[in-house]
Parts: sequence; structure tokens; C-alpha cells
Amino acid sequence: MTESGSAWWRGASIYQVYVRSFADGNGDGTGDLTGLRQHLPHIAGLGVDAIWLCPWYPSPNADSGYDVSDYRDIEPSFGTLAEAEKFIEEAHSLGLKVIIDIVPNHCSDQHRWFKEAVAAGPGSPQRELFWFRPASPEPPNDWQSRFGGSAWSRVPDGEWYLHLYAPEQPDLNWENPVVRQEFREVLRFWFDRGVDGFRIDVADGLVKDGALPDVHGRTEGQLPFSDMDGVHEIYREWRRIADSYPDPRVFVGEMWLPDQERFARYLRPDELHSAFNFDFLSCPLEADKLRAVIDSTLEAHALVGAPATWVLSNHDTTRHVTRYGRADTSFSFADRQQGAPTDLELGTRRARAAALLSLSLPGGVYVYQGEELGLPEVEDLPDEARQDPVFSRTNGADPGRDGCRVPLPWGGESAPYDFGGGDTWLPQPGDWAQYTVAAEGADDNSMLRLYQKALRLRRELPSLGDGTLTWLPSSDGVLAFARDDHFTCVVNLSGATVDLPEHTEILLASGPLADGRLPADTAIWLSH
Ligand code: GLC
Repeated sequence: MTESGSAWWRGASIYQVYVRSFADGNGDGTGDLTGLRQHLPHIAGLGVDAIWLCPWYPSPNADSGYDVSDYRDIEPSFGTLAEAEKFIEEAHSLGLKVIIDIVPNHCSDQHRWFKEAVAAGPGSPQRELFWFRPASPEPPNDWQSRFGGSAWSRVPDGEWYLHLYAPEQPDLNWENPVVRQEFREVLRFWFDRGVDGFRIDVADGLVKDGALPDVHGRTEGQLPFSDMDGVHEIYREWRRIADSYPDPRVFVGEMWLPDQERFARYLRPDELHSAFNFDFLSCPLEADKLRAVIDSTLEAHALVGAPATWVLSNHDTTRHVTRYGRADTSFSFADRQQGAPTDLELGTRRARAAALLSLSLPGGVYVYQGEELGLPEVEDLPDEARQDPVFSRTNGADPGRDGCRVPLPWGGESAPYDFGGGDTWLPQPGDWAQYTVAAEGADDNSMLRLYQKALRLRRELPSLGDGTLTWLPSSDGVLAFARDDHFTCVVNLSGATVDLPEHTEILLASGPLADGRLPADTAIWLSH
């Protein structure tokens, strides 16, 4: 661990588990807590400090668990509350902190509150927990669902309700003190069971402009349902709850915001501890652009004394081995570039270099399950297998996020690659034997071995994790920085082989050197 005690989270490496696709302990084709517990040694063996789990609550699964029907229990196909408690204990005994997802912007339409609101009818206090508006021929405004189509749907009596995501995910009304009280209690419920923190889903979205103005003509930074000033009061309350526990409990926010300074406001000392760096994830793999993002990230975080985070992939974005194998290596929700020509060998080489970059920048770092195996995006899922509402709500125009959520390959020569049951909830490709944990564990040059070595070094080297960075002189297309007098990282994205700076030892390289020089799309950690 890079730091111990109260500031462990400042430089933590955090492994993201998408439970449904991690490992299946009961053979039904869906990942679960039994599978997760069986494979905890894989996560501990990587050398990470913490696990973040995507939602594990009971859910009708309209949006893969992000439609929660009960915030105080476990999805039955994943296991039981008692098993979740055992999992927390086992993770802790392996030295791993546990962060769970909380989804406060919306719940499931099968949540008791929404069912009661529908039954209670217009004008009832139950409807005040959501954003209901009177029956009318047209929706109350022009807001669009982030999954496509209008953000308003009707209940049988004709009233409209707001859902920024799927219709099965009604938005909660955070003006209502009952909603606020409920989530304060939910936080305590899980903190009392030992969880070390929460990842806050759509953290910028909770507060809406109650006048519900149209968004037509507004830019991204002016949306009346994102980054409203009132949201900060909620996180100040939450922070007081976290701080009331003797050992540190932390929050990480999910905010896709266009403005770094507005973003940093969430990380003031009395609000959230950290947040995902999506500018870094979205950035093309080009030295000048990366350097600009790294600099602006560090500047914005320094304003509030918060540690930065570094993220290459997650369960919503195209896997970066695939992105980096394309002509355009950026990520954008607006165009996933599905089917763009992809050189996976190049993408893998670049992903290895990007791993050494992200694991040596100052702050915390996230590793999305499968990233340590170098899994590519699965782009050829049959339409009938796709489950993401993004696919159905856009009539297939957007392939959605299933391609990065395919169940992990653990061993064996063919599907299900020791995942568990025969028919996995999303089909796995036929050529994944090369990516299994077993195969890569036996190959010293694999992506898995690279992540293990890098994450372990990150723990051992005092200069990695939280701290500062100094840029070193380098040629065009090369990033070179020191973390202290003894550690240097060089990332060569120039297209040509370059000389290494002075050093005493090569700690780790993402690929083979060429006569002691650093080839293109290769990164290296040096000590001196
Ligand atoms: C977040 C999650 C995503 C989910 C959405 C709605 O962006 O990461 O998976 O669909 O929120 O809850």
C-alpha cells in the first residue's frame, strides 16, 4: 500500500469489479459473490489496495444493477447480505479495502417508493419523492434521456415522471428531506457493515433546477440537471457521516463535467475525497494532449488539496486495448467508433505503455476488471445478446456498453473459460483462451504479469502514489517525468525509437528495448 493509515485513499490503486461478469460460483452464467470470494486471491495477488464493486443491490436489471430496488440488501442472483458481510471480512483480511457503488440520482421503478407513488396517485406525498408532473399531451420539457429518447415517461394515470436514464430508473427528488434522510441512513447501514467507501453514481446530477427549463440552446456546462450548486450541500452532509467513523471512510464521485474548476469544487476538503478522471480516459494517446490533461488535472486538484485519479477504462467505455489500436484513440460517448479498423497488437502494446503511465502518475489509479488481462472490446456480440438499454433505446444506432462487460476468462481453452456456468449472460469470444488468467499467469510477458509487477512496485516504491511530478526534458512525442530524485517514467509515443535518460536501473519496461533504446509505443520505469 502506498500510504497507510488515514490517507490510504490518496494514492490507492483500486480494482473495479463488475460483479455480474467477474466469476460465477453457482454455475448459472452470471457472476456472483461466491465467485468473487473464490477469486479474491487474484485481486489481492495483483497488489491493489482496494476493490470497487458496481451495484450489488437487488435490481430488476433494466440497467445492469444501476436500477436499485432495495438499497439495504443484495441482488439474489449475486448472493445474500450475510455473504456480502463475509466478503467484506475476507477482503479486509487480505488487506483490501471495499468501496461499493451507491446510486442516489434514481432508483428502480420496482423500488417500494416508486410503486407506492404510482398507486397513491397525483398530488400525493409519495409522488413528491420523484419528479412527477401533471398529465398533458406533451412532456413537461425537452430533456432527453442519456440512453436516448425523452427523459419523461407516463404512469397509467397520465402523469409524467422524469428519468435521466431508462424509464425504469425514475429520478429521485433531492429537494425532499425524506430522500436525503433515507440516503444518510443507507450510508450508515453499509458503513456499519464495514465498507470503506462509496463510489457515487452520477454524482453531479442529484439536484435539478425546479423550474425544469428547456435545455434547447444550452451548452454542456449549463444543463439544469447537472452540476447545480445545491448538490454540494448533500456531499457536505455525507462527508460529516463518513468522518464520524473512527477509521477513514471515503467517497469517489462519478462526474463527467466539461469544466475542471467546477469539477474540483466536489473535492473541497469537506466534500468528496476523490473523483474519476474522465478527461484522462477520453484523451487520445498523444504525448502533447496527455501532458495537457495531466497538467490541468494536477492544477485543478491542487486548488482544493485533493489527489488526482487516473482511469483508462470502466464498465461504460470502450476497452482501451481496442481504442488504442485505432487511428482515433480518443473515447467519446457520442461515437464509440464501433467497427473502426483496429490493430489489436498495436492497441495492446500501447495499452501496456499506458498502464505504466497511469500507474506512476501522482494520486490514485483505477484498474477495470479484464484490463489486467488486456481484454479487447467485444464488438461482434449478436444483437439478440445485447442487454444494454443504450442499444435498444437508440434502435441499435449506439451499440452500447455490453462489449466491455463480457464475463472474464479464467482458464481453459473454450467458453466459458472457467467463468462458471455454461451459458454466460453475455457470450464470450471463441479466441479468448489466450487471455485467461491461467494462460497469462504462466507467461512472464503477459499483460497480467506486467500489471502484477507494476502494481507491486507501486506499493514498494515510496515515490509512487500520492505526491508530485516534475516534467523532464524530452523530444517531441515523448513524456518523461520524475516522481522524486530516484524514479523516472518515460513514455514514447513519438513513432521513433529514442534514447533513455540517465539511470542506474531499469525497474520495468512495457515491452522489449531495442539495443538499450526505447521503441515507439513503449514505456519504462527507471531508477537513478
Ligand atoms: C453511471 C454508471 C452507468 C449507469 C448510469 C445510470 O454513469 O456508470 O453504468 O448506466 O450511471 O445509473
